[in-house]
Amino acid sequence: MLSAPGARNAGLEKMNHPHVAIVGATGAVGVEMLLCLEQRNFPLGKLKLLASARSAGKQMTFRGQKILVEELTHDSFQGVDIALFSAGGGISLEYGPSAAAAGAVVIDNSSAFRMDDGVPLVVPEINPEAAKNRPRGIIANPNCTTIISLMALAPLHEAFGLRSIIASSYQAVSGSGAQGIIELEEQMTAIANGQPFTPKVYPRQIAFNVIPQVDSFTENGYTKEELKMLNEGRKILDLPELRVSCTCVRVPVYRSHSVSITAQFERPVNADAARAAYAGKSGIEVVDDPTNKIFPVPLDTTGKDDCLVGRIRKNLVFGNALDLWVVGDQVRKGAALNAVQIAEIL
Ligand code: A2P
Repeated sequence: MLSAPGARNAGLEKMNHPHVAIVGATGAVGVEMLLCLEQRNFPLGKLKLLASARSAGKQMTFRGQKILVEELTHDSFQGVDIALFSAGGGISLEYGPSAAAAGAVVIDNSSAFRMDDGVPLVVPEINPEAAKNRPRGIIANPNCTTIISLMALAPLHEAFGLRSIIASSYQAVSGSGAQGIIELEEQMTAIANGQPFTPKVYPRQIAFNVIPQVDSFTENGYTKEELKMLNEGRKILDLPELRVSCTCVRVPVYRSHSVSITAQFERPVNADAARAAYAGKSGIEVVDDPTNKIFPVPLDTTGKDDCLVGRIRKNLVFGNALDLWVVGDQVRKGAALNAVQIAEIL
């Protein structure tokens, strides 16, 4: 009998009703994963919900049935075929290899394994074939801003050959988990009542403000979040020469990230040809009639599967370049849905 990581993974393609575990089931992304499995009628055999000892014994509802949350341990993965991890990088590093060794395919939402050569980084609409080659039994889910940006850029890359990206993101507070939402609400209430407050989650006031910092700074002046767009974009598109410069900004929006992108291509482009490149592509919809106030905004994508792209126009500075605006629900397509879609293609 094979016991190396990925041994049982290899037979998964034949498995019709896999046994799925969600690690971090009680978190914002975990709850959304549960919702995606239910809404997409995922052909589940069994479902195991795992979280910290604090949540053990709590009940969560799936398809009308109550399921007990169990404490995550290294022995949690016996018989599990697919383990969806969303409990932070530390938990993924500690327990991901245990799950893979027990024969589960790990689909990890953290950044722990994304740049590991032996771990494919997958957006099912873009590089589904990469999911087949998983020597460590682990598949990584990309960063949310990267997924949303690439959903808009991949069809254009296919048509015109992508060379470089300059982008600014407008990232919702729910990207920082429940604490981000609470901080925005508390600050708005305090301001309305003329009371003082001290920022805890964010480095500056987030209510009625924008903050040009997402994640921590690196020595070259970019934040880790900004470098994810560069490094993960190169890996997903298999474009090692891709040039990316990005500024990630936190905005007082509850949910859905927006990204303003200038993209330069190998071949000539124009707005009509770009819109035509999206025809027949799944997961991305063109919403682009600005004179009639039709363009995507975060409230349009919240709770939705598809990313929306608009404001498509020829860039006036660079040759063969376009400007565009893409919006997507970062908890859903940027995290939970993408992970569930990866499970679907296994
Ligand atoms: P718990 O609810 O028991 O703390 P979020 O990113 O929304 O804060 O969610 C984090 C998720 O990761 C939650 O489900 C949380 O469970 C889970 N988690 C955090 N620490 C641990 C741990 N040590 N072991 C297992 N799950 C953990």
